[in-house]
Amino acid sequence: MHGLKVLMYKKSKKQLIGHSGCKVELIDKGNYFAVRKTSCSIDYNKRLKKQLDKQKEFRHPSIKVPAIFKEGYDRDLLYFEMEYIKGVTLSKKIEDLTTSQIIDKMSVFIPNILNCSAAYDPEAKKYFLKKINELNEKILKKNKTILKAFEYLENYRWDKIEKSQCHGDLTFENIIVSADGTFWFIDFLDSFYSSWMIDAAKLFQDFELQWSYRYLQSSKNREIRLFIAKETIIKYLLEIKKGEGTLLSIYYILLLNILRIIPYSSDNLLDYLCISLDKVLNIIDDISNKKIHIPEKVDTVPGYSSVLKVINKSLGDILNENTDNSMCR
Ligand SMILES: Nc1ncnc2c1ncn2[C@@H]1O[C@H](COP(=O)(O)OP(=O)(O)OP(=O)(O)O)[C@@H](O)[C@H]1O
Ligand SMILES: [Mg+2]
Repeated sequence: MHGLKVLMYKKSKKQLIGHSGCKVELIDKGNYFAVRKTSCSIDYNKRLKKQLDKQKEFRHPSIKVPAIFKEGYDRDLLYFEMEYIKGVTLSKKIEDLTTSQIIDKMSVFIPNILNCSAAYDPEAKKYFLKKINELNEKILKKNKTILKAFEYLENYRWDKIEKSQCHGDLTFENIIVSADGTFWFIDFLDSFYSSWMIDAAKLFQDFELQWSYRYLQSSKNREIRLFIAKETIIKYLLEIKKGEGTLLSIYYILLLNILRIIPYSSDNLLDYLCISLDKVLNIIDDISNKKIHIPEKVDTVPGYSSVLKVINKSLGDILNENTDNSMCR
């Protein structure tokens, strides 16, 4: 499993680790395995409880969630035990898939998260502007890029956001793909607003910033695969979800996400985040000025030949930098 280091192995317990600081253990219960997640501090209990409740409440016809077996407190720290999912995180899985397998997988997964019955929420504007204002007060040192990002965010039409169920932290690290290809959501997060667009923006955080891979060495192999996943999702967004307006909202949420990391970042990370802000601001300009390439119609199932055409056209630059054609299986 990606992002999961085995720290110790006792007779019946393996300790897994993510980035939140919570203890995540694989427990052998004799005839089955369970995963136990324990809060990293008493202060964090409240946050973990919200994660637990969200996991319990999440309902989706095709995406699964590990069942909760047990919850309680151990020395004042909240813990819960859940079903162990044998599989690989999508962040790792994507590196081993061929280009057409990625398109196949994404073509099945993406329509699941693009909530087609969700409607615009006029109340959304209030929540987003409140969040932006709070952040503006929290970030004390602002360079030109940060100021520009705030200007964009403050002037965006946040009433174009759709209210729906969401995961809250949908990075590729928080999706496990089991052997039969089922997608399982783990590690939910309580968010200031609930919209599938927030989940889509987190996926774009992996596409544009390679966020799930920030502790790993860069890899062209991975970049190409993320690019293909991104092109596939953009194609579906434009076709299923009312065109560029939706894509624009997702990039605005991504802009907000990047700013939200700034108060917790080191100087090195800050440089990287400002480069990312610039990149996203440029993409927003391109979408607003209709400079993005709009793919042709998606074929009927399995529907990847037209996506492949778009990708082959757009991949030129990345591929020209590489002599290893095996990356393009
Ligand atoms: N139910 C489960 N079945 C199988 N593996 C799991 C399960 N829950 C968690 N894991 C593994 O443990 C890792 C860490 O879990 P989780 O993402 O919940 O922790 P975290 O500390 O909140 O991580 P982060 O903050 O980095 O997202 C996951 O990436 C996954 O590999
Ligand atoms: Mg996680």
